[in-house]
Amino acid sequence: MTLSVISKKISTCKECLLHKTRTNTVSGEGSEKAEVIFVGEGPGQSEDLAGRPFCGAAGKYLDELLQKTGFKRKEVFIGNIVKCRPPGNRDPLPVEIDACTPYLDQQIEVINPKLIVTLGRFSMNHFLPKCGISRDHGKVFKKGNRLYFPIFHPAAALYRGQLKEMIEADFAKIPKILKDFDKIMENKKEAEDKNEDIEDKNKKSSDDQSAMMRDLEDKPIQSQMNLGL
Ligand code: URA
Ligand code: SF4
Repeated sequence: MTLSVISKKISTCKECLLHKTRTNTVSGEGSEKAEVIFVGEGPGQSEDLAGRPFCGAAGKYLDELLQKTGFKRKEVFIGNIVKCRPPGNRDPLPVEIDACTPYLDQQIEVINPKLIVTLGRFSMNHFLPKCGISRDHGKVFKKGNRLYFPIFHPAAALYRGQLKEMIEADFAKIPKILKDFDKIMENKKEAEDKNEDIEDKNKKSSDDQSAMMRDLEDKPIQSQMNLGL
């Protein structure tokens, strides 16, 4: 599988009703070898017209944040939870998210990034269902062999001073998270070993155990304090 094969499938997709009102699909763009990917919510009007992610006002601001942090747009990958514009920029519906996120999951599998930066609540909750954006933005989460870093959506932060300060402070942490990736993963192994201990001791039903794993997994990693993040 390659990103362009996935984009081709998306371009003719009719899996949800958003296909009826779209101008163009917006599959996402960037490097197939990106270490970090940014996942927004869905195309707005500019993106729907251009067929490219984050190319309107929010996109200009995202470009600014990327540039300030030393990233080039073409070395990262920028995608969305849904690939067709929800009419009038309404929130995507659960049924639309369910229909579309298999594409995002395939893109992630191909790219195999170290870090997924989620932009806004919908993106965060796809990966971290238990998180709340106000409480958990700017914290690092580990799942499997990847790290997740929820931040505010640039469109929400753009015109709101306080959120703007927060998104900029969070964004500035990204290079350090990547730099410390191996160290953070080491700590993860320790945490996982501990989880196994807990499960062995409690000998709970397998359902209870997986619920417990999710609870533990949707908590930010302890090591962010040691890392000075
Ligand atoms: N907002 C998003 O969530 N995604 C885009 O691509 C553009 C704006
Ligand atoms: Fe297909 Fe996603 Fe577009 Fe729905 S939003 S039609 S699932 S590409």
